[in-house]
Amino acid sequence: MEPTDYYPVPHAVAKHANLDANDYQQLYQYSITHPEQFWEEQAKARLSFSKSWDTVHNSNLSQGKIRWFEGAQLNIAYNCIDRHLKKHADKVAFIFEHNDPTQSYSLTYQQLHEQVCKLANVLKAYGIEKGDRVCIYLPMIAEAAIAMLACARIGAIHSVVFGGFSADALANRIDDCQAKVMITSDGGYRGNKITPVKANVDKALQHTSYIKHVIVIEVTKTPIDWNSERDIWYHHVMEKANNDCPCEPMQAEDPLFILYTSGSTGKPKGVLHTSAGYLLYAATTFDYTFDYHEGDIFWCTADIGWITGHSYCVYGPLANGATSVLFGGTPDYPDYSRFWQVIDKHQVNLFYTAPTAIRSLMRQGNAPLQTTSRQSLRILGSVGEPINPEAWHWYYHHVGQERCRVVDTWWQTETGGHLLTPLPGATPLKPGCATQPFLGIQPAILDTDGNECQGACEGILVIKQDWPGMLRSIWQNHQRFIDTYLAPYKGYYFTGDGAKRDQDGDYWITGRMDDILNVSGHRFSTAEIESTLVKHPAVAEAAIVGYPHDTKGQGIYAYITLMNNTQPSDDLKKQLISYVRQKMGPIYGIDLIQWAPNLPKTRSGKIMRRLLRKIAANKLDNLGDTSTLADSDALNNLIEDRQNIETP
Ligand code: PRX
Repeated sequence: MEPTDYYPVPHAVAKHANLDANDYQQLYQYSITHPEQFWEEQAKARLSFSKSWDTVHNSNLSQGKIRWFEGAQLNIAYNCIDRHLKKHADKVAFIFEHNDPTQSYSLTYQQLHEQVCKLANVLKAYGIEKGDRVCIYLPMIAEAAIAMLACARIGAIHSVVFGGFSADALANRIDDCQAKVMITSDGGYRGNKITPVKANVDKALQHTSYIKHVIVIEVTKTPIDWNSERDIWYHHVMEKANNDCPCEPMQAEDPLFILYTSGSTGKPKGVLHTSAGYLLYAATTFDYTFDYHEGDIFWCTADIGWITGHSYCVYGPLANGATSVLFGGTPDYPDYSRFWQVIDKHQVNLFYTAPTAIRSLMRQGNAPLQTTSRQSLRILGSVGEPINPEAWHWYYHHVGQERCRVVDTWWQTETGGHLLTPLPGATPLKPGCATQPFLGIQPAILDTDGNECQGACEGILVIKQDWPGMLRSIWQNHQRFIDTYLAPYKGYYFTGDGAKRDQDGDYWITGRMDDILNVSGHRFSTAEIESTLVKHPAVAEAAIVGYPHDTKGQGIYAYITLMNNTQPSDDLKKQLISYVRQKMGPIYGIDLIQWAPNLPKTRSGKIMRRLLRKIAANKLDNLGDTSTLADSDALNNLIEDRQNIETP
């Protein structure tokens, strides 16, 4: 390895960090040899319970039973807000940085408490009880966090649906969890555009009948349709609501939220997280990974609609009593210096974003950086996809001026928090490498027969033991939970990712092993896009693969077989692209379409995706074994035709 590709921990950093290399080694060994004691100590130090547990850990991974702190009672909103009030009522919990930089404001813990209590009372008044589901479909505004916490306060289960999903996708998610109340807004801001939010809800609610009340937050003041039997203005009901709302005592294993994520078989999975274990894991990872110190200003740029927003915009920082920035804008508005301006404006110390954002900003060169100082920064985080070394170097050398540790955090919706990550004061950095397991996490690499590999190797990434932040089930489908994560390799949690372990024991994620794409850090199921495309009357068959894309990481490449009577045209390509965006949501942007009169299939009729991926990537020199192909003409035609398609 080149010496420049290795960044040891500077002495001064180790000295001031929460954990240095020795601490980490000792604590890690303890955490995996004595997991119950370790997590019990963490729980006592980090959370407040109204009743203590009977058992710390009562799990059986093979049977799909995961239980932490059984018998204990707590309330998540109490842990995130109320218990901080005694000392920190006037401390800022959230700095909301509006899309329009002139409209930012702060919310103290006391103010957050008041808003959360009021909304919790509103939800109760509309019939929400412990265990009921509430759907939250909002742009990135502070009320999104308030809504989540209001649910947690009364024991309702929130299901946040990212604002970039379509009305159909929203309706499916409402149906799956049978949500009774929807919290939404009139519209949302995205740079200089206004997005329709309420209109999508109205459309979704034509296809599902579970939602009885829609609470609408006024954000953009754009005209919307109004159904007076169902729709309620947030500001009207909040004005009259009582600001005293007791916290519902919750069992440690009571559900906290459902968050839908793409599954390789198409239908999204309602990942279920429960209360004590999830919060403990979010709180512990927040503290150690970002080396949080009292007074630090933290900024996670993720939208609350994703797990990163749940764990590191809301639950992790608040459980630590931290101050964090919530960002309602985009990295390019009003111009490409926005992130850096916000960092200076709020004196952000700990910054957490995605490689796709880093790559798109890197492409703008260093001029936008030069208008800012970024001297407040101490830690730079990355999440959601592999960070390529070029982007890592730019982040480290230019954004962080070689002063900040870069934490490349690998984790998933299902894991609740970071599983592999460098710790700022403990772990030497390698660009593009997620390095070491977090405390209590035992990764292993398996070969295709399911045997554990030792030493430096490459294979299937699994986790050997459950941990408090792990998902407990798939909503209303426990068998799918077992089949997806626990049955593939008995006794292990199957991550779906491949990884390499190097000679130092550091882990490098090599990408998904299933048919999931990672586009700009978002998970997309190829099967889901294919089944949408074949609903279009012109499409007979579709196969989706990913291909390397400069900013998005992966782009979406569609091979489409048209109906016999349909002529291919550029216009039809545009129609199909917009059909998918409209049906699935604007984030589902197909990048390239190639017409495929026939798809390369095996004799048993299986599409040979391996070949389609090579053609899409234009890597035609070594196609591997093609002997099982039923018809080699289909393949040759696609290869020939690929040359006519320009990769953007
Ligand atoms: O493939 C891994 C990739 O994102 C997947 C999880 O996606 P999601 O559930 O949407 O959660 C994203 C935010 C945690 C993983 O299976 N991934 C996530 N972080 C990294 C990553 N791949 C490489 N390096 C990472 N740091």
